[in-house]
Amino acid sequence: MVIKTLSLINYRNYKHLEASFNSGLNFIYGKNGQGKTNLIESLYFSSHLKSFRTPKIDQLKQFQSESANIRMQVEKQSVINNIGISIIQDRKKVSINNKILGFSSEFIRNFFSILFAPDLLSSFKEYPIERRTFFDRILYVTDTAYFQLIKEYNRIRKQKAILLKSQSMNELDIWNRLLSDLIPKIIASRKKLVDQINNKLPLIYQELTGRSENLQLCYFNDFQDKIEPVPEIIFQFLSTKKEIECAKGFLFYGPHKDNYWMTRDGIHDKISFSQGEYRISFLALQLSINQIIKQELNFYPVLLLDDIFSELDESVCEKSIHHIFENNNQVFITSTSIPDQFIGLGNIYQIESGKIIN
Ligand SMILES: Nc1ncnc2c1ncn2[C@@H]1O[C@H](COP(=O)(O)OP(=O)(O)OP(=O)(O)O)[C@@H](O)[C@H]1O
Ligand SMILES: [Mg+2]
Repeated sequence: MVIKTLSLINYRNYKHLEASFNSGLNFIYGKNGQGKTNLIESLYFSSHLKSFRTPKIDQLKQFQSESANIRMQVEKQSVINNIGISIIQDRKKVSINNKILGFSSEFIRNFFSILFAPDLLSSFKEYPIERRTFFDRILYVTDTAYFQLIKEYNRIRKQKAILLKSQSMNELDIWNRLLSDLIPKIIASRKKLVDQINNKLPLIYQELTGRSENLQLCYFNDFQDKIEPVPEIIFQFLSTKKEIECAKGFLFYGPHKDNYWMTRDGIHDKISFSQGEYRISFLALQLSINQIIKQELNFYPVLLLDDIFSELDESVCEKSIHHIFENNNQVFITSTSIPDQFIGLGNIYQIESGKIIN
């Protein structure tokens, strides 16, 4: 996938931007606060239909503007698509080739980008819900049935929550049965993705660091001590928890509470990763996902790497660049200065006050 052109009107600090990009490397540099992350955010927004910095869509409009517009020309597998997004008040309207979009899951599946950004990293590190959302979005892309599965799970979960809030145990069995049918499928999809990632993650981590440690992604669910999480066993488990859930008034068990974390040589990231090591591990995770998308969907997603070099030592930077260039991705990298090794490798853009000046 290649973003060929981008036009922004009243997006964050961009009054009006028209840019065309290289199908390989695009290096964006400029002083602090000039609009580098805003540009990356607009590209991410145009492929995920959400920002990684705010859930509030109206913050994307320029201060005091009524609306914002993003237009992009994207080439994927030799087909060119024109994407248009208008943001008016707190709503977005998305069109592809002038046709208004119906389902956003289909859109994400078609225009996937992979982001490395300090804001995403800190929320990923901090909150289990952010990690679940992160891996769910990959599954929406790689597993066609998964989106419906989660939609159905959430629908039933809401019904059960209403019952629990009213402290009524009647009818709980009906909803527990329905949940028990869905839960094994959700767990199986999540496990499969984690296995796919773990086939790649340690090797990429070793390549980026030159170290021999074993980086692994771990996945936890409420049913993993069961020999086999089949519907009947899950139903029995949920039946034994009816009273606890009723007393608490909310669903206490299920995939909405699942968790992910990383380990290095078996030790939990929380207690053993330095700041820089967490950054490298997250980068290795994103680069593993890049290979899985290529394998499953046969296209390279766009790589958006915001402020990737801060806190990484020179050797890791060099090895990361080497790995990134071995693949055929279109890449956007931002930084406050251009390292020598990038000169002559692709397009270089200097940003100042929401404008490309060079
Ligand atoms: N809705 C908005 N309207 C106008 N300006 C905005 C809006 N939101 C953010 N800005 C401004 O955009 C500027 C650029 O922000 P951005 O995060 O892109 O900077 P940056 O170039 O990535 O800087 P750094 O190197 O510090 O990461 C900031 O000064 C910010 O105040
Ligand atoms: Mg920035």
